Amino acid sequence: MNQIIYLFLLAVSFCFSVQADTVERLLEKMTLDEKIGQLNLYSSPWENTGPIEGRSYVSEVRSGLCGNILNLINVGHVRQMQRLAVEESRLGIPLLFGYDVIHGYKTIFPIPLGLASSWDMGAIEKAARIAAVEAAASGINWTYAPMVDIARDPRWGRIAEGAGEDTFLACEVAKANVRGFQGDDLAEISTIAACVKHFAAYGAAQAGRDYHTVDMSERMLRETYLPPFKAALDAGCVSVMTAFNELDGIPATANPFLLKTVLRDEWNFDGVVVTDYSSINEMLNHGSAADQADAAAQALVAGVDMDMMSSAYVYHLKQLLTEGRVTMDQIDESVRNVLRLKEKLGLFDDPYRYCDEQREQEKQYAKEHLDASYEIAGKSMVLLKNSNQLLPLDEGTRIALIGPLATARGDLLGTWGARGNWEMATSVLDAMSQLNGHDRVDYAQGCGVEGTDISGFAEAVALAAKNDVVVMVLGETAGMSGEASSRSRIGLPGVQSELLEAVAQTGKPIVVLLLNGRPLALEKEQAFADAILEAWHPGTEGGKAAADMLFGKLVPSAKLPVTFPRSLGQVPIHYNMKNTGRPQNPVDPFPYVSRYMDCPNDPLYPFGFGLSYTEFRYSEIRLDKAELKPGETLTASVTVSNVGDVDGEEVVQLYIQDLVGSVTRPVKELKGFKKILLKKGGSQTVEFRIGEKELTFLRRDMTWGTEPGDFKVFIGTNSRDVKTAVFTLR
Ligand code: BGC
Repeated sequence: MNQIIYLFLLAVSFCFSVQADTVERLLEKMTLDEKIGQLNLYSSPWENTGPIEGRSYVSEVRSGLCGNILNLINVGHVRQMQRLAVEESRLGIPLLFGYDVIHGYKTIFPIPLGLASSWDMGAIEKAARIAAVEAAASGINWTYAPMVDIARDPRWGRIAEGAGEDTFLACEVAKANVRGFQGDDLAEISTIAACVKHFAAYGAAQAGRDYHTVDMSERMLRETYLPPFKAALDAGCVSVMTAFNELDGIPATANPFLLKTVLRDEWNFDGVVVTDYSSINEMLNHGSAADQADAAAQALVAGVDMDMMSSAYVYHLKQLLTEGRVTMDQIDESVRNVLRLKEKLGLFDDPYRYCDEQREQEKQYAKEHLDASYEIAGKSMVLLKNSNQLLPLDEGTRIALIGPLATARGDLLGTWGARGNWEMATSVLDAMSQLNGHDRVDYAQGCGVEGTDISGFAEAVALAAKNDVVVMVLGETAGMSGEASSRSRIGLPGVQSELLEAVAQTGKPIVVLLLNGRPLALEKEQAFADAILEAWHPGTEGGKAAADMLFGKLVPSAKLPVTFPRSLGQVPIHYNMKNTGRPQNPVDPFPYVSRYMDCPNDPLYPFGFGLSYTEFRYSEIRLDKAELKPGETLTASVTVSNVGDVDGEEVVQLYIQDLVGSVTRPVKELKGFKKILLKKGGSQTVEFRIGEKELTFLRRDMTWGTEPGDFKVFIGTNSRDVKTAVFTLR
């Protein structure tokens, strides 16, 4: 037996030494220029999200000065470029091909905020897997995802790209994405390297304005913003992208605290760190670097391996080395990180492994991918309101379909639509007409998504008056969320709200189907609507899924991963806020309390909220013990019953509050959830184990751990409607 273990260990160490050899041997042969080339990432002019450098990446690939490309698509182009690198550059080092494969490549899934709403990690992993399969078949080997930035400001357009406001949920989503993109084996041809971004705290941009300054306590950073990055890395994510923002006065792209202290030293990350698009150059604008050379030196020294689109390393590293501002060891370490990634991807064995035209043809929009897009779109739509069980609609009901997004197809794909073809998408109008019969769906646009034109109101109102039920498809275009798409108002844009109000005067029952990329403030609108279904930007098959859900072929099961405020004035608002000192006594009429004079403190729809077509009833919480010693766990359980008329899925949520701490604790924090399917009339006991991991926090001395005392447990259907129990940690 011992001998077998010995032979196994020998084989493992042999593999490692062979791997190390390839990279080390290559390093020995490389000129300084060639090394710098490996640290350089250029965009093909195909798609860009920032300024374009005037340099010719084609000639630089040939001369070894550019070792990585982003935004080059299709096997044909990738093969051509890979051939230049492999067959025409001196050392033949293959290129990495990066692309923003965020929620699908060709087949598009709901935007990430929608995916997170599913609270279904299997579904999220599946979406990432399919995205990887399609992207890899198209020549891509590196995606700039998952984006794990916690976002609590709906003005910020990039809230659409993440998992919302909560750290625990975001960690789970991050892991599911990494598993999906990278699979078990990066060298397998249908997996691609993941890149967790944007490191770090990008989501806390002041006033929700993209790229804006971030300043926060180290405690907040470590407790709330960093864990999803760590979770992605623990799941095996091989690369990290820096953020555009500054943090505590130092741009994230050259921030030694983030990149060295936390990422490399505390977390021992040995993968690739790449900048965001031209973020080295942006340090000049931030005012933290005197010139491009200074910015390049700061970034490399802080631990940034690869420069995306600044050309700063190409222009200056040589000179900086001569001046002693960077060292050869620093350059070598970064080159090593890049080459190791190429090796992990199997590119040294076969640089054309991702270049198979036939596979490309077969994989794009494969039937099972489209089926998954439909299924996962259904899982991501959140039912926010359903008065008098207006939904689901009966087939045959005469519908007035109104609103500027009813005919949308491109907008269904949302931000970062990758190579998704909008012509593959079915609009809500077409999907509803096919389902319910063209003669039973009358359509009027009513108004545009934006603008002030109300000339279509009269037609819309007339249409509403002569039908049984009104369905209004309202919201935002795809371009209104995502990068550089912050909004200073978070209501329905244009005159959509006025259109809704006008239609409501008919007295007809109204369903609002929302297509949007951020939480919207809908206090006024929700009063006019009898039912509201939040469909986000639901992807290629999302139009069909939405129509099917309206008619009950799909049952809603999604829950909000982010709070919907009543008004922008409440922002930032999230479920896990802290108590203040006021009111000292809740029943005291004393007016000096923490509140708004013109609006309640609570949100319109809380985190974790989402209705179903059925109804779930929760028992009280049962704890298997009332006291816990360090190192022990206890079990909290509830019985959930489906007391409605249809089968449905429910997300059972566990929250905990540490009642007294050396630092104050949030009023509750998500610590677990389970999504269960309950047949109508059925019930199930759901158990959560609570121990050290669930009770730990960053204590006053900045160490992680628990503190003895009383804890409150909450289990329920959302963060507001919960059962409670208390236990003590000794
Ligand atoms: C975005 C990144 C993206 C990169 C490459 C940047 O503008 O911030 O999220 O990965 O462009 O497209």
